[in-house]
Amino acid sequence: MNYDKYEKIVELAKRRGFYWPSYEVYGGVAGFYDLGPLGTLLKQRIIEKWRNWFVKKHQDLVVEVETPVITPYKVLEASGHVKHFTDPIVECLKCGRKYRADQLIEESSKVKVEGLSVDALNRILREYGVRCPMCGGELGEVRLFNLLFTTTIGPYAQDVGYLRPETAQGIFVSFKRIYEAFRERLPIGIAQIGRVARNEISPRQGMVRLREFTIMEVEFFFDPEEPECNLINECKGKLRILPASDRAEGIEEPSEYDVNEAISEGVIKTPWLAYWMCVARDFILDLGIPSSDMYFEEKLSHERAHYSLQTFDQLVRISRWGWIEVSGHAYRGDYDLSMHMKFSGQEFTVFKKFKEPIVIKSKKVLVNRALLGRLFKDKADEVINSILSTNIEDLEKLLGVGGDYIEIGQYLIPKSSISIREVVEKVSGKRIIPHVVEPSFGAERLVLVILDHSYHEEGDRVVLRIPRDLAPIQVAVFPLVNDDALEVKAKEIYNELINNGFYVIYDDSGSIGRRYARADEIGVPLAITVDYQTLDDSTVTLRDRDSRKQIRVRANYVVKAVTDFLNYKLNIE
Ligand code: GLY
Repeated sequence: MNYDKYEKIVELAKRRGFYWPSYEVYGGVAGFYDLGPLGTLLKQRIIEKWRNWFVKKHQDLVVEVETPVITPYKVLEASGHVKHFTDPIVECLKCGRKYRADQLIEESSKVKVEGLSVDALNRILREYGVRCPMCGGELGEVRLFNLLFTTTIGPYAQDVGYLRPETAQGIFVSFKRIYEAFRERLPIGIAQIGRVARNEISPRQGMVRLREFTIMEVEFFFDPEEPECNLINECKGKLRILPASDRAEGIEEPSEYDVNEAISEGVIKTPWLAYWMCVARDFILDLGIPSSDMYFEEKLSHERAHYSLQTFDQLVRISRWGWIEVSGHAYRGDYDLSMHMKFSGQEFTVFKKFKEPIVIKSKKVLVNRALLGRLFKDKADEVINSILSTNIEDLEKLLGVGGDYIEIGQYLIPKSSISIREVVEKVSGKRIIPHVVEPSFGAERLVLVILDHSYHEEGDRVVLRIPRDLAPIQVAVFPLVNDDALEVKAKEIYNELINNGFYVIYDDSGSIGRRYARADEIGVPLAITVDYQTLDDSTVTLRDRDSRKQIRVRANYVVKAVTDFLNYKLNIE
């Protein structure tokens, strides 16, 4: 692993304003990072690209919503997070430091233990003699630590609330309202981008593991009886997947699957999950990450979240940390809607209309209540209940036997008080609970991933080869030298670009070489230089950050040239 490169990125990120640890003046708090001016812009572009892939391109299927960060206890009790959203923790009995137990064991013993039970972790911890890495002290018992940040809502201590750990629950609890407002048809995707918080035990991987971050997720609801995906043929190319069955056999290399093959072989359990994995692959490729640095790893059953029937992590390789997860793809079944239905007592099913109404013939038991009331008085209700709760076929058999009475429990009931009729009903549909697949991304991690993949050194020159359409600053404008006439023209171009909606820097300090270097270091894809020739023939120089080649274009063509260049319609080679 290239530690050196990572350190350089961290230094560049702080110095040029991409990101840095939050609350630095008070010593910092692990798991919190500020995004600086460039980091904020880069994150906005990542979000815009995500929105483009997951929402805008699917706007006939996917809508976007915004729900609160603060979540009442009841919601996360129902979702299972109060009980299950935990990580194992262990404390040093000597120095009192606390560690995430599974990570500590993995680091000391190299045994993979993610998702194992507390008992198993305790056993492995003792077996390998794991001790406190800071003081060498003995470790206590492993226990579970809940990762929800707790607060209270209003002035009453009993009104517990949490910072949401995922935006998904805001979507699930409002599902019916959104469904009704948006066509009342399945499938439907509901997207949300927003802040979430997880009280990680000891986050150590910089921007990779944050206690507060922005999540971008889609809850995609479909009919489990008609799970086919009508867009599956839009998926081109292969998916690189490491299935759980391969992992269980010790295989570490992913295999390439055609998406239809992955579905038909049961590698991916449901077609819409596969479809959104393809979209996720294309989104990550669009961020400039090569296919060879990305694959999907299926989680083993004990590694999956409590709500998941199948989960794939999308992994991307970065220089310091190796393979890191950039998104999770979970098949949540009907878990969440069923739980909210149970806990709220509200209806979360949807009405599924049959193509044609169907005729259902059934038998119905009728009782003569007046007669039974006269015969059994205050016991009549009990008798009626016992008749109605008897299986209809059994009742028919009893009525078919000779005699005027039948015996149910302790009661002798006259046959004349019971009749069985055949009823014919026309049914136009039925109620179903939709199933859900969920692609879910963390935005800040992607800022790091993009910096890591775009960082290049050419001699002593640093270049961030951020894809042109993601670059925080899109274009730089320089006068070749400090001369009033050049500066006036350069400012004119600068203002024109700003007025056309671009993010532009104007730099007239130091030599032209230094200006290019400063722009390259923050990934500005294109630089425009105004020189003496500009004053003669109204042309300017366009310089490509990556090829370092230049062309001259007419100054009044600059907006079009910049637009084309950023959209990869103009290349300077
Ligand atoms: N909603 C996805 C997650 O919690 O990771």
